[in-house]
Amino acid sequence: MHRIAAIGGDGIGPEIISAGRTVLDAASERFNFAIDWVDFDIGSERYLKTGELLTDEDISGLETCDSIYFGAIGDDRVRPGILEKGILLALRFHFDQYINLRPIQLLHGVQTPLANKTPDDINFLVVRENTEDFYVGIGSRFRGAEKRSLEVIRNLYSVKFGVDAESDAEEVAYQIGLITREGSERVIRYAFERANERNKKCSSVDKANVLSDIYGLWREVFTSVSKGYPDVETEFTFVDAVTMWFVKNPEWFDVVVTPNMFGDIITDLGAMVQGGLGLAPGGNINPDGISMFEPIHGSAPKYKGMNIANPLATIWAGSLLLENLGEKEAAAAVLKGIESSILAGHVTKDMGGAQSTSSVGDWIAAQIRTGA
Ligand code: IPM
Ligand code: MG
Repeated sequence: MHRIAAIGGDGIGPEIISAGRTVLDAASERFNFAIDWVDFDIGSERYLKTGELLTDEDISGLETCDSIYFGAIGDDRVRPGILEKGILLALRFHFDQYINLRPIQLLHGVQTPLANKTPDDINFLVVRENTEDFYVGIGSRFRGAEKRSLEVIRNLYSVKFGVDAESDAEEVAYQIGLITREGSERVIRYAFERANERNKKCSSVDKANVLSDIYGLWREVFTSVSKGYPDVETEFTFVDAVTMWFVKNPEWFDVVVTPNMFGDIITDLGAMVQGGLGLAPGGNINPDGISMFEPIHGSAPKYKGMNIANPLATIWAGSLLLENLGEKEAAAAVLKGIESSILAGHVTKDMGGAQSTSSVGDWIAAQIRTGA
């Protein structure tokens, strides 16, 4: 028995989670385990009504669950950043989901924009650090009112860059990226474990040539962790170069481990490489705690309630969820079901089909039930 929290959230979130649940229920029937779903009303509607983002009650309810299945958040009526930080990032941080696992895998039957690349070429994991770096929320803006602070900054600037300390800078903003040895080590170790059980290559992505303090530490930790995995080939890449290699030679990669911010950026690129955002799942994982699985796309508010959104990324996220709970066979069957639906052309309009969100879920569920 697995107790799973369902957070539909905003926009198309509830519809894609509903399709995902249909598929996971079918997998549980076929593979003889039970899912106890617990619904949570978290998202913009409640926020607009009550001002609540994530309440203590939400947290204590979620803490009784084994996993969280998350749709999407984001609403045009709410200023950008409020829901993202107040709900999604708050959950990742509260549950210390320090691994953001994003498989970049081209399924059979899916078109990649990369010419002449096949499913054999595009099959790697991005392991994104998920709790540190520029996401720690340390930053500020200084306006005229904080004259004293502004003076301090001006003086710093003038020392560092030789600018005129009397210059008329009216506003200054900064945001600090912060990583810890412990935080880097645990996620890099996870990446090496995964590489060790796959094709034994682990690539680090950073920008140590410029941001040498923060990513110098990252590299040092990567090097020291790598010593425990002598069979795993390693490489350092810079984030700008890696965007080029993802496009030119995706077949080089097996496991890619990266600090939070670069991981955010390169996984949208990865999503395109694997055929689009409609096919890109992610897991926010705490190996000793409660993990959360979601499509990496957003809430697409303009398609809300139309039953046309592509549920495959969410269903795939459900496969990652099952895998994380140890239901390996069920997880594999879900992924196979996704691939069958694509090969059969039983997909939504964005993938060239004519199916609705729910009919894709129902079809994959039926495949799984019959063991096809
Ligand atoms: C993602 C998203 C989030 C992130 C946003 C919505 C906070 O872009 O999951 O990649 O930056 O991590
Ligand atoms: Mg992102």
